[in-house]
Amino acid sequence: MAILVTGGAGYIGSHTCIELIQKGYEVIILDNFYNSKPEALNRIRKISGGDFTFCECDIRDRAGLDKIFAENKVDAVIHFAGLKAVSESCRKPLEYYENNVGGTVTLCEAMRDAGVKKIVFSSSATVYGSNNPSPLREDMPAGGTTNPYGTTKFYIENILKDVYAADNEWSIVLLRYFNPIGAHESGLIGEDPNGIPNNLMPYITQVAIGKLDCLNVFGNDYPTPDGTGVRDYIHVVDLAKGHLCAVDKALSGTGLNIYNLGTSKGYSVLDVIKAFEKASGKKVNYRFAPRRSGDVAVCYSDPTKAKKELGWEAAFDIEQMCRDSWNWQEKNPKGL
Ligand code: NAD
Ligand code: UD1
Repeated sequence: MAILVTGGAGYIGSHTCIELIQKGYEVIILDNFYNSKPEALNRIRKISGGDFTFCECDIRDRAGLDKIFAENKVDAVIHFAGLKAVSESCRKPLEYYENNVGGTVTLCEAMRDAGVKKIVFSSSATVYGSNNPSPLREDMPAGGTTNPYGTTKFYIENILKDVYAADNEWSIVLLRYFNPIGAHESGLIGEDPNGIPNNLMPYITQVAIGKLDCLNVFGNDYPTPDGTGVRDYIHVVDLAKGHLCAVDKALSGTGLNIYNLGTSKGYSVLDVIKAFEKASGKKVNYRFAPRRSGDVAVCYSDPTKAKKELGWEAAFDIEQMCRDSWNWQEKNPKGL
């Protein structure tokens, strides 16, 4: 089976391509390197011991997409390509709607015209908004997103639901990721953010390595056991493996299915700092700072549906996530 992976040079995409290649899938990676580097492709080859086709292309480039579908047999698409920085999306909403929503529409048009109607889409727990209580289940109402990035995910989910309603030959899997952290155990690929990280784990690893002075813990007055925000952190390799199960589901028939990919466990910011210090042997300087706007107190998954229907469940614990995040940071202090 041949899988086109959009955004395959990025953080989650690169880990997923390794799993796909190692399982014997033919892989075609599409990326425009907006938020990744060509070196990631060399690392995928090195870790997987296999090869793939690479197409430098933008998902908004209809002619480029048509050429890829004409020149390659594609059975299904895993669609990671998109912009993902929450604070940037508040400053540049149009760029986010154009790239994420517009790009997905163009990709789906090219797929339809090429007769490829199987897609796995990277959605996010952010679509649950701030009104649902954790553990979050797929049948809870989505919406009420707190920033343009989150709203692009909500809109794309709705667009794909409409695509399926109009044409039942499509097979669509929407994956709602919780908080991916960690890295491949080799330390050759991992999260490589540009500039100052927005997310917790890359911020922690950059404080630990001395690149940043001190972590701001956003809020210590939440209604949680220690007052700091609680999240469902998931190892990126577990997440990557979830995509193999999802693509099998997409290939096996038609339909529209939604799955949470999370662990069901909630850890506070202070829990993560402690687990990281234990796993790395490094001290993480932190101070309490005001809450970050748009943050919810608690967000963790009910992953039962993915276990029941996909046969997938997360295996790595928080210690392993911290160990692998640190291994990647230590081996690549400047990123790729
Ligand atoms: P990433 O930025 O590392 O990877 C995205 C890749 O897409 C990059 O390589 C980038 O160059 C490419 N890309 C962006 N726009 C493109 C375009 N128009 N055409 C072609 N390529 C393009 O991000 P990631 O963390 O690997 O996330 C992958 C997907 O998962 C994204 O859609 C993201 O929104 C979603 N997601 C991520 C998280 C997370 O915490 N990392 C959580 C929930 C959902
Ligand atoms: C954020 C996004 C979410 C996106 C996800 C993955 C917001 C409001 N949500 O989720 O839409 O899908 O990233 O990209 O931005 N924290 C600190 N100090 C820091 C960074 C984070 O204390 O420097 C805290 C946060 O307040 C939160 C936890 O750490 O409690 C996790 O934060 P983060 O890694 O940014 O993920 P989310 O906010 O869950």
